[in-house]
Amino acid sequence: MYTIQTLNKISQSGLALFGDNYTIQDNLEGADAVLVRSAKMHDIALPSTVKAIARAGAGVNNIPIEECAKSGIVVFNTPGANANAVKELVLAGLLLSSRKVVEGINWAKTLDTDVAKAVEKGKGAFVGPEILGKKLGVIGLGAIGVMVANSAQALGMEVIGHDPYISINAAWGLSRHVRHAVSLDEVLAEADYITVHVPLVEATKYMFNKEAFSKMKPGVRLLNFSRDTLVHNGDLLKAIEEGIVTTYVTDFPVEEVMGNPNILTIPHLGASTPESEENCAVMAVQEVKDYLENGN
Ligand code: MLT
Repeated sequence: MYTIQTLNKISQSGLALFGDNYTIQDNLEGADAVLVRSAKMHDIALPSTVKAIARAGAGVNNIPIEECAKSGIVVFNTPGANANAVKELVLAGLLLSSRKVVEGINWAKTLDTDVAKAVEKGKGAFVGPEILGKKLGVIGLGAIGVMVANSAQALGMEVIGHDPYISINAAWGLSRHVRHAVSLDEVLAEADYITVHVPLVEATKYMFNKEAFSKMKPGVRLLNFSRDTLVHNGDLLKAIEEGIVTTYVTDFPVEEVMGNPNILTIPHLGASTPESEENCAVMAVQEVKDYLENGN
């Protein structure tokens, strides 16, 4: 009999896979394993019964992995399980960064009389470029980056990619039209749109800083569906003021960027689809079960 704590809401169909030998509870008492989505675990004291933590998601920056390693707690994540959900929202972000749809929708909400006449005026006010034939730089070619690159290429964009650690599987999965052995500086200098898909680690923290912005093509549109602190928000605001960045789309709203007309903030919805929540839960449950029952 095993005991699992769920720190966040985890898809029921995933949890059902645990079966009768497991008790699912919302406290840590006697827990053998913990399932977590985005709750920050750094300040939570784990009892010595905990042997494994599974994150229903790709990033593990909400888990103190070094402390877990020291205590012999194995940490799992669910790479690729939410990649399609994130890819779809990135594509939406790409289009929203270009066309003035969000601005238009917000404006349309203010209309109550003479709507048809007002709409005629709005058409001219909310003009934004097409993405066809524009250059997209994809930084980070893991599961999500590869899907975004291939889909954007299929939409008619010219796609270039950068990833110093690209796996052979990812390279094989990439459309042959995507030029992927491109240096970071080249991507920064050439791309009309940049989307970032790298984990947050010491080497990537604030990789979009003053220096990186100074290398970008003026007017670039930047998308961040990975982690907030990949981008230095102070330097970003300056780059927007200077006309280097036209639009920043982020799935990580923080105080400093709210209300800026050039910044579209999405409340961390990249993986929020029923399909992705189920995929992540199923993978996380399977990992925990295999580990507790078979030690692998
Ligand atoms: C991830 O790291 O995959 C996402 O943060 C998942 C989520 O939104 O929970």
